[in-house]
Amino acid sequence: MSSRRPSSNIERRLSERRNSDRPGLMGSRRPSIDPSRLVPMGMTSANLGDTFNVVFIGAGNIMFGSDEGPWNHSFRLEHKLGPRLKVVALIDPAVDRATAVLQKKCESFVVSAYQDTRIFKTFEDFIKNMSPRDRPRAIIIGSPPMFRGTTNPGRDIEMQILQHFPGVPMFVEKPIATGPETELDNTFQVAKAIADSGTLCSVGYMLRYLKAVQKMKQILNDNNLQVMSTIARYACAYESIAKPDWWDSAKSFGPIIEQGTHFCDLSRYFGGEVDIDSVQAHSLGWDEPAGKLSKIKFDENVIPPERRIPRVTAANWKYDNGAVGSFVHIVGLQGKNYSCEFEVFADGYSMKLVNPYVSPVLYIRKPGDDDETTIRFGDDDPFFSEISNFIDTIEDIEDDPEGAQILSNYEDAVKTYEFTWAIRRAAEESRAARLKAEAEVEAALALEAQSGPKA
Ligand SMILES: NC(=O)c1ccc[n+]([C@@H]2O[C@H](COP(=O)([O-])OP(=O)(O)OC[C@H]3O[C@@H](n4cnc5c(N)ncnc54)[C@H](O)[C@@H]3O)[C@@H](O)[C@H]2O)c1
Repeated sequence: MSSRRPSSNIERRLSERRNSDRPGLMGSRRPSIDPSRLVPMGMTSANLGDTFNVVFIGAGNIMFGSDEGPWNHSFRLEHKLGPRLKVVALIDPAVDRATAVLQKKCESFVVSAYQDTRIFKTFEDFIKNMSPRDRPRAIIIGSPPMFRGTTNPGRDIEMQILQHFPGVPMFVEKPIATGPETELDNTFQVAKAIADSGTLCSVGYMLRYLKAVQKMKQILNDNNLQVMSTIARYACAYESIAKPDWWDSAKSFGPIIEQGTHFCDLSRYFGGEVDIDSVQAHSLGWDEPAGKLSKIKFDENVIPPERRIPRVTAANWKYDNGAVGSFVHIVGLQGKNYSCEFEVFADGYSMKLVNPYVSPVLYIRKPGDDDETTIRFGDDDPFFSEISNFIDTIEDIEDDPEGAQILSNYEDAVKTYEFTWAIRRAAEESRAARLKAEAEVEAALALEAQSGPKA
């Protein structure tokens, strides 16, 4: 075990196991939604009730959309809440960016949601200037992860929200934080504070809300199956990733923590708790012969060599129920489309989810049939489903067990973050060991050259 691991991991896991009545079955007991209840945006009607005040933290791509992908929380909230939506504040230190996105909204048919929105550089400014009628019913957090997920000033937005708006629901983007691995215990403290306060908190692992994913869950639940293995592969189209920070492991913390996290989370959603000490990983470095990339859209040389990201990371691990998981993340495709597959095996069954981001297809093999059945889920919008379930959960006063569900809560998302850090660390340790061995060979050869060949 590495000395860099937070010391209380084992105690925490021990206490979870003691409190768990049936350890190892977590995977099948995780919340799920009947896939038929995940309806497309165009088939829902906005409830014409009271106004619904929302605060946006971050005026970037996740909140207002971009060419990079289908994410855009403001758009989904506009459809979910219709004329009830009132964005009372947009908080972003980049005031020009916030002003520009707001202006666009005010020039469109959703003007009523944004005409009174005030821009603030910081959450503190909002608190100081807020009038009581602007009290939010929900806060959507889409700031970069380095500014959240801890109790440290400037990186403690969740704690500030708990202090000033106790009980007000939060929606937080993934990853839950970024920072040194030693801060993980601190991030678990934030999770505890949120849980202890009883505050509803949903995290943006939207793949859990895919109809195809819920279909997989349904098959496992209906047949009382235990997952034996999860196999995940994520190949991104690196040519279309132009953000320099993404390529800098000191800024975005690398492709597993920033991007592969979605598939690590999906693995946990199906496989259950990961035995963190079992995680093993290897990587292909940028400086190895197989790691050369010809179409990076910016000059990677501006990033110090030790901070450049791996091109391939391959990991495997054990789950608490004994199942085995594996994940390969590849920074290797050009063009625009990613190639991603996620497969689950259980006794007699395999379920393979292909292309979950663009047009999900599920291949199912069942007992009694050696051929696979194919189900296509063309019309699905998990970004809408996660927002829709968040709002419905806030408004569901009757607590209907068949009703809306939060599929990724804060504590669960911290565990995914812990898991992704474990993969990064294992890969880095393996690389360091290999470089050390190579250096030893080089040194021995140099010595040999000096002293002449041995007989
Ligand atoms: N679920 C998904 O598929 C998905 C997709 C895209 C982004 N994301 C996540 O959303 C988050 C934001 O990503 P993005 O692409 O929108 O980034 P971005 O860089 O486009 O936008 C981030 C915005 O936050 C602002 N900001 C910086 N510090 C802030 C602070 N302390 N308080 C408030 N705002 C602050 C920046 O000025 C910027 O405008 C990341 O965690 C990212 O991983 C998730």
